[in-house]
Amino acid sequence: MKPPVLVTRPIPTPVLVRLEEHCLVELNAKEIALSPQELTERLRGKMGLLCLLTDRIAGGLLVSAKELRVISNVAVGFDNVDVAAATRRGILVTNTPGILDETTADLAFALLLSVARRVVEGDRLIRRGEFREWNINMLLGEDVFGKTLGICGCGRIGQAVARRARGFAMRILYTARRALPGDVERQMGLSYASKETLLRESDFVSLHLPLTPETRHYITRGELAFMKSTAYLINTSRGPVVDESALVEALRTGRIAGAALDVFEDEPRLHPDLAILENVVLTPHIGSASRETRTRMAMMAAENLITALQGMRPPNLVNPQVLMK
Ligand code: DGY
Repeated sequence: MKPPVLVTRPIPTPVLVRLEEHCLVELNAKEIALSPQELTERLRGKMGLLCLLTDRIAGGLLVSAKELRVISNVAVGFDNVDVAAATRRGILVTNTPGILDETTADLAFALLLSVARRVVEGDRLIRRGEFREWNINMLLGEDVFGKTLGICGCGRIGQAVARRARGFAMRILYTARRALPGDVERQMGLSYASKETLLRESDFVSLHLPLTPETRHYITRGELAFMKSTAYLINTSRGPVVDESALVEALRTGRIAGAALDVFEDEPRLHPDLAILENVVLTPHIGSASRETRTRMAMMAAENLITALQGMRPPNLVNPQVLMK
């Protein structure tokens, strides 16, 4: 008998086919998240859950999910899952690291270029019918090449951003809990800096940190005060890493030059002022949103789920403590 699993949103067909080879799949075919009540209800009797980062898997939800053995999150970040509660209940939690690094770095760089060169403002100007003639002073932005990029959190995605920055002859600073080995720094042209030095010296600050209690409001008023008034903040990590009210104030007062954000503090709700500020580029959490990458992520999540339900250690396990009990 195949193990029953819940899939919380439509997934690419080949992934569904693969899951159905091994599991009895119950699919929420709607593109909107199930309510906590619906999730609780539909999780009853399920042994596996394949979910997205917009599904809040709180501890309370797991109480009645007595049969649940694995939560497979289709994302590298897993701050939407109460991992501690899952661990206490002996439930494995998996994620999808590695395969979205280049795609997310592409978006971080696209945002950086867009905000520096006012690409979206230009698009809006044309659509308003205001492009009447070439003008030497029109929509002047900032050069990107040769500038200083500060990368906060230099894991796989941060390093993928650094590789792109080298092509733009940028000076690259990074800050992280631990410095990278010297040979990696040399090979990638990276220099370690304290958070304060990085913020003071960078023309572009790009965030690549997971959301944890320590990184919540990693950037707030104090950090923004260190930044150059000509600098830009790029966030493709998680919204709550930035204190959005402090950022809005910094953008409104010209404390920093601009920001490009793919993630928001109270996603999908937008701070009302962000929508009216011209010096901000906004995208709706599409860091990993290429056809290829999203399919690879879903397939990786499916393989994690199947492996766990076959009684083996899934490849991308985030709470190995469960297996040590
Ligand atoms: C992730 O995987 O955590 C990303 O935010 C999805 O784009």
